[in-house]
Amino acid sequence: MLTSTNHRTVLAKPIKTRRLVLRELTDSDTPEFAHLAGDWDVARQTARIPYPYSEELAREWMDTLGPEEFVRAVVHHGTLIGAVGYVANEDRSAEIGYWIGKPWWGLGFATEAASALVRHCFTTAGFKRLTCCHFVDNAASRRVIQKLGFRANGLCTAWCDARRAEFPTQSYELNRPLTAMFWRRTP
Ligand SMILES: CC(C)(COP(=O)(O)OP(=O)(O)OC[C@H]1O[C@@H](n2cnc3c(N)ncnc32)[C@H](O)[C@@H]1OP(=O)(O)O)[C@@H](O)C(=O)NCCC(=O)NCCS
Repeated sequence: MLTSTNHRTVLAKPIKTRRLVLRELTDSDTPEFAHLAGDWDVARQTARIPYPYSEELAREWMDTLGPEEFVRAVVHHGTLIGAVGYVANEDRSAEIGYWIGKPWWGLGFATEAASALVRHCFTTAGFKRLTCCHFVDNAASRRVIQKLGFRANGLCTAWCDARRAEFPTQSYELNRPLTAMFWRRTP
């Protein structure tokens, strides 16, 4: 799956959607990445973005991503507007995540980027099952997850770096549809 050099090359290709390109993060993304992700309203709804956030912390995070982690910049007309990604598990499942910078909320970008990520996960990356979760006070993310077709499968608590506390979290899953074998691979 994620082991061969060939496969890594395929995984490194940008993913294109109608309005977006999902591409690898580069050093030059760091200032805008830190600025957008460091907004309180973004950071507080994610598990791993501390608040306050800085370029140094963003660079450190990018430099320490493990081989099981896949992160893509979400780019619209050449501008970084957010990020999507997954953490792979050993059982051919992965947990997906996403954020969009506040100036671009409400324009369907999270749905468009995360839909492409899901497709990529079920075709190119070959996962059988995806999971995701959101803090229960995150109605926008709940809606995005619903639109992607995920099924709620339980409540738990998860740590939030920005709020420095555990928060109630709704978790979801999505099994690879049988029809995925007929989908075209991304990009
Ligand atoms: C959640 C987030 C990714 C959504 O990004 P977005 O690009 O605005 O999402 P979309 O435009 O694709 O879809 C948002 C949907 O939520 C709905 N929505 C937004 N705010 C809402 C609210 N307070 N209550 C209910 N629905 C809401 C929108 O109407 C839209 O649904 P619709 O298409 O049926 O009208 C973005 O707000 C964000 O990055 N938040 C902070 C980080 C985060 O929450 N990441 C996800 C962690 S699980």
